Amino acid sequence: MKKILITGASGCTGQGVIKYFRENHAYEILGLVRKKRRDLEPGARYIEGDLQDRSSLEKIFRESRIDSLFHVGGAVDPHNNKELFYRVNKQGTRELVDLAVRAGVGEIIYCSSTSVYGKFDQPQIDEEHPLNPQGHYARSKLMAENIITRECEKAGITGGILRLPIILGKNDRHLYPRLILFNRFHIIPMFGDPGHRLSIVHPGDIARAFVAVSEKRFRKINSFHVVSCNPTFRELMLKTAGAYNRNPYYTLYIPYPLLYAGAFLIEMTFRGVPPYKEATFSREYARMIGREWTFATSRIEKAGYSPIMDIDAIVNDMVP
Ligand SMILES: NC(=O)c1ccc[n+]([C@@H]2O[C@H](COP(=O)([O-])OP(=O)(O)OC[C@H]3O[C@@H](n4cnc5c(N)ncnc54)[C@H](OP(=O)(O)O)[C@@H]3O)[C@@H](O)[C@H]2O)c1
Repeated sequence: MKKILITGASGCTGQGVIKYFRENHAYEILGLVRKKRRDLEPGARYIEGDLQDRSSLEKIFRESRIDSLFHVGGAVDPHNNKELFYRVNKQGTRELVDLAVRAGVGEIIYCSSTSVYGKFDQPQIDEEHPLNPQGHYARSKLMAENIITRECEKAGITGGILRLPIILGKNDRHLYPRLILFNRFHIIPMFGDPGHRLSIVHPGDIARAFVAVSEKRFRKINSFHVVSCNPTFRELMLKTAGAYNRNPYYTLYIPYPLLYAGAFLIEMTFRGVPPYKEATFSREYARMIGREWTFATSRIEKAGYSPIMDIDAIVNDMVP
């Protein structure tokens, strides 16, 4: 039976992927978590370890023979200290991949981010679009991509890079808590032109993309956009508020230039005031939610991927 080590197993994606595998595939799963919790999905054996602690990772490879590494974990929160992004996403990936190569792991698939493109002026882009990461998070994700591509190709390890847009599903820690902050006050925020579309992906579909890429056994490490659906911003907001159910709601329209200027002010404030953390809301985030932002998926479709989650299914899973 194929033995897969999943990092970030306690997060939104890790938990959703483990649930999908348990229900659909006979894999043996090891889930890397920083701290074991009682409420983790069944279907995996959880092991404690930290991407910043090489010896904790070394122990895993010493004690288990791993066929495939699905590297999902990382520092994601925009409010993280900027050094943490590099320590976890770049250096942590370097250590993990080094150990995986030494242990003879045959496959590495990585969860990266569409933030590696930075600014773009077309409403939809493919994987060949130039890379121009804007913040520390995006830069650290691109560095991790480069490490994985280089080391896998050098060692003859198969795999791929999944470039993910906004991830939404059960236990999302990033966008959902920000949305319901408004909903709690009976407000539905509409950023920019609410008719703009944005790509979102559910962890179950990320698991399906993993299977598609894994089955093709790519020797050249390619990047793949993985998308579940492209709802309009209005659709996402109304369905989330509807499921959260705090009627009546009042709509708050925030034009894109105002959203962007607000993000700029927040960034400058965080940059100028100790402890100099990354801003909780940045221009990068404003671009992500305030403008049309979709990703072509023909490359992963050619590998056999098709999504199963639509916007209703995603919102139902996301809102408890
Ligand atoms: N969220 C998005 O919209 C989005 C979009 C594009 C790409 N991505 C990428 O997709 C992946 C999954 O995202 P997600 O939304 O599922 O993230 P998440 O819910 O925040 O989960 C992150 C996971 O990484 C773990 N982690 C953090 N620091 C670690 C460390 N030092 N050592 C070991 N594990 C560590 C966390 O453990 P704890 O439970 O202990 O914190 C958690 O299990 C990430 O690599 C992220 O960069 C996310």
